[in-house]
Amino acid sequence: MAEEKYETHDYDVVIIGAGGAGLRAAVEASAQGARTALVCKSLLGKAHTVMAEGGIAAAMGNVYPEDNWKVHFRDTMRGGKLLNNWRMAQIHAQESPDRVLELEEWGALFDRTHDGLILQRDFGGHRYARLAHVGDRTGLEMIRTLQQHAVHKGIDVYMECNLQRLLTDGGKISGAFGYWRETGKFIVFKCKAVVLATGGGGKAWKVTSNSWEYTGDGVTMAMDVGADLMDMEFMQFHPTGMVWPPSVRGILVTEGVRGDGGTLKNTKNERFMFNYIPEFFRAETADTEKEADAWYEDKRNNRRTPDLLPRDEVARAINSEVKAGRGTPHGGVFLDIASRRPADYIQRRLPSMYHQFKELADVDITKEPMEVGPTCHYSMGGVRVDADSTATTVPGLFAAGEVAAGLHGANRLGGNSLSDLLVFGRRAGLYAAEYAKANRAVNVDAGQIDLYARELLSPFESKGDENPYSVHADLQDCMQNLVGIIRTESELKKALDVIGRLKARARNLKVEGNRQYNPGWHLALDLHSLLSFAEAATIAAIERKESRGGHTRDDYPNTDPKFAKTNIVIRRKNGDLTASQEPLPEMPDELKILLEEKK
Ligand code: FUM
Repeated sequence: MAEEKYETHDYDVVIIGAGGAGLRAAVEASAQGARTALVCKSLLGKAHTVMAEGGIAAAMGNVYPEDNWKVHFRDTMRGGKLLNNWRMAQIHAQESPDRVLELEEWGALFDRTHDGLILQRDFGGHRYARLAHVGDRTGLEMIRTLQQHAVHKGIDVYMECNLQRLLTDGGKISGAFGYWRETGKFIVFKCKAVVLATGGGGKAWKVTSNSWEYTGDGVTMAMDVGADLMDMEFMQFHPTGMVWPPSVRGILVTEGVRGDGGTLKNTKNERFMFNYIPEFFRAETADTEKEADAWYEDKRNNRRTPDLLPRDEVARAINSEVKAGRGTPHGGVFLDIASRRPADYIQRRLPSMYHQFKELADVDITKEPMEVGPTCHYSMGGVRVDADSTATTVPGLFAAGEVAAGLHGANRLGGNSLSDLLVFGRRAGLYAAEYAKANRAVNVDAGQIDLYARELLSPFESKGDENPYSVHADLQDCMQNLVGIIRTESELKKALDVIGRLKARARNLKVEGNRQYNPGWHLALDLHSLLSFAEAATIAAIERKESRGGHTRDDYPNTDPKFAKTNIVIRRKNGDLTASQEPLPEMPDELKILLEEKK
């Protein structure tokens, strides 16, 4: 019996991942009366959510009363190049304001308008200033609030507990299996429903805003038990990460800098974004500096600055400037807020950015420009879910937040991630609890657990000599160089080849020492998901022979109507990953009309 051999816990709902989506799901599942466990690989509160610094997008209309869910829906769809799941985009736009207000009720301290309402700031692709924020620490405040709320509700939290495999019983979820990072001892969760809230897999790239936890675990666990993945070709490279010094390359520089007045310049001191306005956004984007400056000073002006185009457009523009030799010596461009805003404004609105640059790069952003360049930030793709319930294609398995696909289509607008976590985190907790109520107790299969235990211990017993750190470094080089912002068929195929060889090397990993706090062993285990995530992203990128959002093909530089209503779905079949093209759900006419309206 597994219960006798391994530490075993029994719950209705187990939530894997304790960022915004996981915490919100746990609060909801527990409020529904489900016996709930929240399990996180890292310390509670240490989540990529905190990297969403600039705010939570929600059409509250506090700064622009004319804002409403319909405009937010339209912006999200257009930002996602119309590849979004329309129903998710609708739910998200409709429910975000309530989720922000609820967060405030639970203690989040937002910045305020003069009238005492929650203040909202500008971000790329949003028609109106709609990001509710706390300086440039919004994700952190959201985590703090949710964490406190969850702890006060008495939810059981398992920290530094890394779940690596899902358990199934007759095709349905029956639990999850993993280990304690401190002791290396195995742990079994028996449960009726699992909510995946594990975030993305940005650690497969070299220059990334993601920290060590983001290794694609949820996507891989889901795929390994038969769930569909979708949109894996769409990776978001946030336009502004730090580029210097090398030790901090990739750390995020919030879009809030541009939202609050910062402009991008090349080494010729040109506001180069004026040269990169796509036709799609031309009607509403200023095409002269004078017009853009007018917008910065009086935001009721209809035409916005091109510095705040959606992220995919800005990241590609920076990439082109650097390639054309107009980049800084460290391979970035300049982001200047000092010449537009007074020092006290910058320090009040962007305190973390001020300290980050002062302490890490010895740059005073109230006096000098920052050096920035694209950094791998977010995966639009992930596990395919039902729009209303977040249910995956595997009974009992739910997914919310970055690990789930659909809401953001081909490109996510900044700020839409924090609202996504709240809206769909709540729904995941709710529907997982309902599923658990409606389903009988599950059995865990001791044979399945023993097999997983052997798999997890294999790097200790291996006769091979591969080092997990060098396999990881080679994977990061491969993804950075061959599956980056600009892609071509030949490079993608080369990447697939390299990933194949890295998978073979990963079967020969050898780790030394014992199971107690052994980071080499942990990385060896994470490589299974890193490699699966990378492989799925590369296969999907080969399949989509066009350019759209966070997927730019040099050999297919335009959008292709053939792919305009197509998702690339990845499945594991007999051990191998396969890609298929599947149609998007048809949008109802009353929503189609919203996309055509200019205002
Ligand atoms: O730039 C930022 O503050 C990031 C926000 C986001 O990814 O949503």
